[in-house]
Amino acid sequence: MTPPILVIGALGNVGAEVVRHLQTTGKNIRAADIDVERIKERFGVSVEAALFDFTDPKTYAATFQGVEKMFLMRPPHITNIQRDMAPSIDAAKRAGVKQVVFLSIIGIEKMKYVPHYKVETYLEQANLQTTFLRCSFFMQNLNTTHRKEIKERSEIFVPVGNAKTSFIDVRDIGAAAAVALSQDGYVGRNYDLTGGEALDYWQATEIMSETLGRKIEYRNPNAFHFLFETVRRGTPFMFALVMTMLYTSTRSGMADIVTHELETLTGRKPISFKQYVVDYRESWL
Ligand SMILES: NC(=O)c1ccc[n+]([C@@H]2O[C@H](COP(=O)([O-])OP(=O)(O)OC[C@H]3O[C@@H](n4cnc5c(N)ncnc54)[C@H](OP(=O)(O)O)[C@@H]3O)[C@@H](O)[C@H]2O)c1
Repeated sequence: MTPPILVIGALGNVGAEVVRHLQTTGKNIRAADIDVERIKERFGVSVEAALFDFTDPKTYAATFQGVEKMFLMRPPHITNIQRDMAPSIDAAKRAGVKQVVFLSIIGIEKMKYVPHYKVETYLEQANLQTTFLRCSFFMQNLNTTHRKEIKERSEIFVPVGNAKTSFIDVRDIGAAAAVALSQDGYVGRNYDLTGGEALDYWQATEIMSETLGRKIEYRNPNAFHFLFETVRRGTPFMFALVMTMLYTSTRSGMADIVTHELETLTGRKPISFKQYVVDYRESWL
């Protein structure tokens, strides 16, 4: 049997799409996450399910055994990389993992305070063969983090002014990661992955309004109002603070870059924002 390709965070937005695209390649796949029963339910018997928790070293041996290539992501709540991610990276290396495709953030080279920078540096210093997928804002933030406000209040509440965002669909990221993991030639390369167009939130809400058949308003608070209101609506303070920082960088024009590197990896055009809204329409009804 050929070594399985390991997908960490296999139940997450991106990880699930990595598994789904790898399934089309015929490769052996090991899907790892903190809920093994849900992995089995979601992917069935053709995928090996592994219990993996970054913060529980007892889960490392079975997860990494026999693996040479893995998809790695950082769960959003993990901020202390040295304490909560480094031990599992060390264990992966000791177990024989050679290649890591890591889900990172576009512009990370200039954001040394962001945890992904520390993960990238740690992987390089561990002499692992790396491919960093540095992604722009996910379209799927709108059907996860912002779902409730769109569904219940018919609004998107983000503090980004008139700035544009080159939203990317996580289905495209999954496809790109599957290529980097299942084909040769991607080691040592990093990709800035974006959607095919940059939209401001006036345009995004207009597309949503047309598709959903009701008016979705763009609320454009200042950063302080956003932080205060997001916490008041139930988001933990630290998570709301990170969101505020990221949206502040968007507001200053850092999220509007459009690259064509996704097409280089997948061989096709990115999924459009309009198509995303059509496909996820049910989320906001
Ligand atoms: N959102 C964006 O626009 C954007 C853009 C670029 C990069 N990124 C980066 O992408 C990453 C998030 O990707 P995603 O949206 O696919 O994440 P996600 O949907 O939150 O998935 C994370 C997965 O990891 C699991 N998990 C939680 N704690 C764990 C632990 N201790 N050990 C192992 N697994 C654990 C989660 O399980 P539970 O759900 O049960 O907790 C979940 O299945 C972040 O690093 C983020 O910064 C995001």
